[in-house]
Amino acid sequence: MLMQTSTLPLKPFRRGKVRDVYEVDADRLLLVATDRVSAFDVVMGETIPYKGAVLTQITAWWLRQLEDRIAHHMLSADIAEIVREVPSLRDHQDELAGRAMLARRSTVFPIECVVRGYISGSAWKEYREAGTLAGEPLAKGLRESDRLNPPIFSPATKADEGHDENITIDKMRSLIGDADARELERLSREVYESGRRIAAERGIIIADTKFEFGRVPTTGREGAGKVILVDEVLTPDSSRFWPADRYEPGHGQPSFDKQPLRDYLDAEKRAGRWDGNYPPPRLPKEVIEATSARYLDIYRRLTGHTLDPDDRH
Ligand SMILES: Nc1ncnc2c1ncn2[C@@H]1O[C@H](COP(=O)(O)OP(=O)(O)O)[C@@H](O)[C@H]1O
Ligand SMILES: [Mg+2]
Repeated sequence: MLMQTSTLPLKPFRRGKVRDVYEVDADRLLLVATDRVSAFDVVMGETIPYKGAVLTQITAWWLRQLEDRIAHHMLSADIAEIVREVPSLRDHQDELAGRAMLARRSTVFPIECVVRGYISGSAWKEYREAGTLAGEPLAKGLRESDRLNPPIFSPATKADEGHDENITIDKMRSLIGDADARELERLSREVYESGRRIAAERGIIIADTKFEFGRVPTTGREGAGKVILVDEVLTPDSSRFWPADRYEPGHGQPSFDKQPLRDYLDAEKRAGRWDGNYPPPRLPKEVIEATSARYLDIYRRLTGHTLDPDDRH
């Protein structure tokens, strides 16, 4: 079942570009990944079949892989279990199947914890222009898409509007304090390193990624005050996934997921039919289907299973 926007009998907490978040109670949130897709920071008018379920189930899969290493916010991503916990969602079971996650509510640190294992995107642009990354000097002679060893931790602030802003580690310390800054960097590196190793075994390069962390409120019953990994984790929306068999430094790499969409939008721009702002052009059926197939393919390659989003157990 496709979803552009959700309407649930719960109190809205936040509506992001892709996800609708609701309050369940003082300790829990429901995160709903819709099928919305954004490219070049613009949300498209069309939805991508299965995208929401792919994002939620990839996060759930990673959190199960990483369970021994990191405390996280997931309580359940299984719709039958979620409905048992939150009976008011009973009538929404079909539309929520696969895409909903019941999570521990936390106070999210206002920092995007970016880890880069390869130099690409805005990092490549800054390096090419200034030889630095987030203001810190980098080794000379790097090529676009080169592997970075060790990976680089480059935090950004979470901007409510527009683009996130890269900040230095000193700036991060001044925002959240030394101890938390150190802890978030340590956890980010650990999760990224584990994730990139597991993905590599499956032919996928995770070039870079972004994590969010939160603190469990001290009023909470369990694990009060603890830092936990929240939000989406190592998904194609929060990370750059590259097919390892086509990796070749020296230029940009094809992305696993949104390439058909990006190619189409680039062509529309070149033809003068789109200026890159809202409203986006209408997407042809082939582009929607090709993008959906990419998301399903990533899920299958990573987990070794075919996603069955209509499976309600
Ligand atoms: N466990 C959690 N506790 C509190 N907030 C969370 C938790 N997990 C995710 N969030 C927040 O929910 C929102 C998810 O919506 P999303 O569509 O990703 O928004 P955005 O467009 O800001 O990326 C983010 O603001 C994220 O910080
Ligand atoms: Mg987000």
